[in-house]
Amino acid sequence: MRVLGIETSCDETGIAIYDDAAGLLANQLYSQVKVHADYGGVVPELASRDHVRKTVPLIQAALREAQLTPQQIDAVAWTAGPGLVGALLVGATVGRALAYAWSVPGVPVHHMEGHLLAPMLEETPPAFPFVALLVSGGHTQLIAVTGIGEYRLLGESIDDAAGEAFDKTAKLLGLDYPGGPLLSKMAQQGTAGRFTFPRPMTDRPGLDFSFSGLKTFAANTIRSHDGDAQTHADIARAFEDAVVETLAIKCRRALEQTGFTNLVIAGGVSANRTLRARLAEMMSARGGAVFYARPAFCTDNGAMIAYAGMVRLKAGVNGELGVTVRPRWPLAELPPVPAASAD
Ligand SMILES: Nc1ncnc2c1ncn2[C@@H]1O[C@H](COP(=O)(O)OP(=O)(O)OP(=O)(O)O)[C@@H](O)[C@H]1O
Ligand SMILES: [Mg+2]
Repeated sequence: MRVLGIETSCDETGIAIYDDAAGLLANQLYSQVKVHADYGGVVPELASRDHVRKTVPLIQAALREAQLTPQQIDAVAWTAGPGLVGALLVGATVGRALAYAWSVPGVPVHHMEGHLLAPMLEETPPAFPFVALLVSGGHTQLIAVTGIGEYRLLGESIDDAAGEAFDKTAKLLGLDYPGGPLLSKMAQQGTAGRFTFPRPMTDRPGLDFSFSGLKTFAANTIRSHDGDAQTHADIARAFEDAVVETLAIKCRRALEQTGFTNLVIAGGVSANRTLRARLAEMMSARGGAVFYARPAFCTDNGAMIAYAGMVRLKAGVNGELGVTVRPRWPLAELPPVPAASAD
């Protein structure tokens, strides 16, 4: 069975075809980074218009890549939320129309379930149960995962998401949007310990996060020091270390609270090498393991939507004929998928 997946929730158009027997047959991605770079962030209307231009050509490219005709597609899945409403509507409308025209089921997918399940596309997928840390541009959440669709929110950011904090701090350091990966690169040249940033909300119990204060701390540190390259790198290093250590402390608490031994990290920030290394070290000391997707499947992509769509299709999801998107959509509202239909 083959599912065509469409991702248009933010500033990437991602199209993929996933086959439940053969795996991923096609994966096409177009990033709008250049469109938004001048503005220092995503401009929703420009994002919607660019998705209109790219979605259909990328679907054609994916079919060519997989050497398939539309008749060989068994379902169409699209991101129905959360995300930017105009951007979501493009993928949902195209997906719904194609499913109708091809007489196959149409499957609305939750974007964060896509991120959460992306590590399942790798050679050694995690087994349930596990603690999931979703760290992306719009979310920082800890979730107890006991099965597909069995998601219990343990804690989340009360202000900025981790990725957002990376991007805003990167901007203060004069880096282009999205600055997360660039800040991380700059941090490699930084001296550990020259600056020490706070580990927000780790001095009290609980699993919530707060990252907006770190950005302010970075702004103040930049203002009170010389703007030379080494100082910037040292600040980048202190910022990254603070985010990584804060995430690690909360992951450890979530593992202790649930009694689970394994950890999954997903979303754009899970591509961060310092975070991966720190969590790998922590998990091996605890006798567990950390699972994540390849970097291209950490940020937005069509593969995770095609995969999540396949899982939901097998659980019997066949969306309504109308087009409904949900810019806000709590992950815990998803229905569970019985283990038998998830195979
Ligand atoms: N190596 C890295 N280090 C730190 N941050 C990174 C790295 N790579 C990507 N990011 C950050 O990840 C974010 C993008 O991730 P993703 O595409 O999952 O987010 P999003 O789709 O915008 O948000 P959401 O999924 O919550 O709707 C950006 O904030 C980016 O800076
Ligand atoms: Mg995303």
